[in-house]
Amino acid sequence: MTVTEEIKSRLDLVDIVSESVSLRRSGRNYAGFCPFHQNTRTPAFFVFPETQTWRCFGACAEGGDLFSFVMKKEGWEFKEALKNMAQRAGVTLEERKPVDKEKQKAQNKQAGLLQAAADYFHQLFLHAPQAEGARQYVARRSLHEETIAQFALGFALDSWDACRSHFNMQGYSDQELLAAGLLTENPDKGTKYDRFRNRLMIPIRDVDGRIVGFGARTLEKDGIPKYLNSPQTALFDKSHLLYGLDSSKRGIREARQAVIVEGYMDVMQAWQAGFRNVVAQMGTALTERQLRLLKRYTKQFVLALDADAAGAQATLRSLQVARETLDREVEVKFDARGLVHHEGRLQADIRVITLPEGKDPDNIIQENPEEWPKLVAQAKPVVAYVISVATAGLDMNDAKAKTAVAQQVLPLIKDIQDPIERDHYWQQLARTLRIDERALRQIRLPERPKRTLRREETAVTPKKTPQPSKKEHAGWATVPKKGRGGVGSIATDMRQADFLHQMIRLPNVILRVNQKLQECDQTQVTDEDFLLAEDRAIIRQMYHLIAASPVVTIDELWDSLEQTLQNRLKFLLTLPQSPETELERISDTLVLSVLDWRLAQVRQLLSEVKHLLYEAQNEGDTEALAIYQQQLRELPVAVLQLNKARDSMSATSRRRAEDALNGRF
Ligand code: UTP
Ligand code: MN
Repeated sequence: MTVTEEIKSRLDLVDIVSESVSLRRSGRNYAGFCPFHQNTRTPAFFVFPETQTWRCFGACAEGGDLFSFVMKKEGWEFKEALKNMAQRAGVTLEERKPVDKEKQKAQNKQAGLLQAAADYFHQLFLHAPQAEGARQYVARRSLHEETIAQFALGFALDSWDACRSHFNMQGYSDQELLAAGLLTENPDKGTKYDRFRNRLMIPIRDVDGRIVGFGARTLEKDGIPKYLNSPQTALFDKSHLLYGLDSSKRGIREARQAVIVEGYMDVMQAWQAGFRNVVAQMGTALTERQLRLLKRYTKQFVLALDADAAGAQATLRSLQVARETLDREVEVKFDARGLVHHEGRLQADIRVITLPEGKDPDNIIQENPEEWPKLVAQAKPVVAYVISVATAGLDMNDAKAKTAVAQQVLPLIKDIQDPIERDHYWQQLARTLRIDERALRQIRLPERPKRTLRREETAVTPKKTPQPSKKEHAGWATVPKKGRGGVGSIATDMRQADFLHQMIRLPNVILRVNQKLQECDQTQVTDEDFLLAEDRAIIRQMYHLIAASPVVTIDELWDSLEQTLQNRLKFLLTLPQSPETELERISDTLVLSVLDWRLAQVRQLLSEVKHLLYEAQNEGDTEALAIYQQQLRELPVAVLQLNKARDSMSATSRRRAEDALNGRF
């Protein structure tokens, strides 16, 4: 939990607001006169206890969380709000520590060491006489020179201290070698030795191509483990990485599809055969973090995983994660009887290939490369796949087991966009389970975990040691709660993080973005566009610095921020960089992104208002009802305007792209 989250969890927004605004109950929520604009006639200011958010539906049309409320109310800067609220909540704030620069330096050195180690292993592989066996092994696996170079395959000598002494001589201490995962320490004797011995070294890179660790395959027959990986370090966490993404991201974007396989060899073989949209999850279940990485490049995923039962179970887990992770647009609908229900629709296409028994993509592609695209094209939609896996070997006399299967599959069916397709699967499931379709439709689903869970908790992978990953996750942990009255969504949060990241790297871009927004009758980007208190504070600070001098460096920004904001900035800087380099193109993309999140926010607000309206109706709260009805008239207009701006922007940006292609720019 980040500091702001911790504070928010300890304080109640209703209490805080009540101190200055007189609130009355309206259903589950509270209403009162807005303290931010002159008003004594309509109580258009609402506080939503469940989501700990507030919103004024009146003249100021604003909303936010605890922090934005007190900042606005008291005229505080983020820092002051943080200090005051921390004190009130009994949370001690970390002092700003100068050691961070040291830590940064150490991390840079470690990155340099890993790159140097990859070069060292690669040179050994290419030239050392001792690597003859390794070279033969790679040749037997039909990997060519070009592939070897592309993936920088290496060789670790069969020695306990060759790597260690090589790097000691280069000025790296044992401590640094340990931290980089190149040395292993015997816990009893305290002796240190080379971690990788007589292995084929496969460097693992992050999405930007920086080496973060190694997978090392044994060269001995039945050597154990088959693959020895780098230990989890500050830089290396398998659940955050996808092998091959750095080299395949372009191919994924072009193919509009990512194929996810199990292992290193599969990726290399696919690459060699020209299939350049393949990444590997390195033997773990797919995690949210990995999906989020991939989602930047495509919305179509094909999972090509082992045929065995364990593989199938892992696939089910992965699919579960995918469902929880990928965008879903929540819509509130009124059915024939006037009842409200929420519908979530998965905005991604996930398919699954079951590989022939005992085969992996590596040998399929080697035997017959033409087979591969055919297999991929035959990928089954998730639901069909899950029904077949979940019902395989099911005892049809076991009613409880049948219910359990239904509960597992039904949420997926309900996610299907197309009503005909959806119906098809209802029928198929009923048939497979040999139960009446009407009975099936009456099965109650266990409550779906809400987005209000922190992300780490929704991941299905076994709990990691929280220590190293926690910092890195910190950026995500503060995502506002989603639900009625809330204003956030993961997609929006991602867009905003990305926006800030680009803006920080290329400060002038914000001015261009604002110009373009104005050209399409939209307001400039302000702190109020952002969901997180931290992001609001960062953008305010950015504007502040830009006003003083138009070129702002990252260091300048960093130095001007307090600790909590530095943590957020650190996280932002770890996000993948945009492949675009041209200012015009980048600002086009960013403008579209702003319009998208504004649109998403207005749409969500609209759906929330529908729900609130319904509640107010039930409660007979006529005052609130009038306000919501007013909103239902106004919000669609805002949607219309945003859509118009979006259309004109995408036309411009398309034209620019075409012009650039035709060399007219
Ligand atoms: P596989 O055992 O299917 O590996 O494990 P593979 O890629 O087909 O290997 P070859 O063809 O025998 O060389 C799939 C993935 O699981 C991880 C690796 O990432 C591997 O590529 N794994 C497997 C490990 O991390 N450790 C192991 O001991 C085994
Ligand atoms: Mn294999």
